[in-house]
Amino acid sequence: MKFFIDTGNLAQIKEANDLGILDGVTTNPSLMAKEGIKGEEAIAQHYKTICELVDGDVSAEVLSTDFETMVEEGKKLAAIHPNIVVKVPVIKDGIKAIKWFTDNGIRTNCTLVFSAGQGILAAKAGASYISPFLGRLDDSGWDGLELIAQLRHIFDVQDYKTEILAASIRSPLHIIKAAELGADICTCPLDSIVGLLKHPLTDIGLAKFLEDAKKM
Ligand code: E4P
Repeated sequence: MKFFIDTGNLAQIKEANDLGILDGVTTNPSLMAKEGIKGEEAIAQHYKTICELVDGDVSAEVLSTDFETMVEEGKKLAAIHPNIVVKVPVIKDGIKAIKWFTDNGIRTNCTLVFSAGQGILAAKAGASYISPFLGRLDDSGWDGLELIAQLRHIFDVQDYKTEILAASIRSPLHIIKAAELGADICTCPLDSIVGLLKHPLTDIGLAKFLEDAKKM
């Protein structure tokens, strides 16, 4: 399973990248706004900086919801760097735009996926990735992991090439379960990635080794 970091924060992207395990980055308008990035030029520059930091795909989301504007926006985003993947919401015009981007050699990440039906349409349109939002489903009383399992089964049976990008990760356990269920990628906040390392027995064991090392 590949690891993406889900943030627009350059320090966090750098920290995850320095671990040597990072395969890409996802952003969304909320994450970009959180970093205070405003205006077309500043947004494009921020994506460029991220692409230069990380050797992997970087999802950049369109801000419009109609086909024509999404296509124009997506073309501009894709021109920023070869690693840019245009993130498109799973709405009618979004599916049309994904098909257009696919036919024109621009890679896409279909976002805000909350059902298997949405995933099927996005895959049919040729999305490179679909992003099922695990955590938000869980937050609302559904089972996000069940959706990952269902999508994995459908994509395998139908031989869809679209990659399943487990998103809206809330905990290290989400990452472990998504890996177990066969998600192709997990996009996670830095805390959840680093959280995978935590185990009290590791801390206790290391303290003992370090103490005994003094006697060597
Ligand atoms: C996915 O690409 C989204 O950016 C993200 O995972 C949303 O996560 P959230 O539900 O924590 O906002």
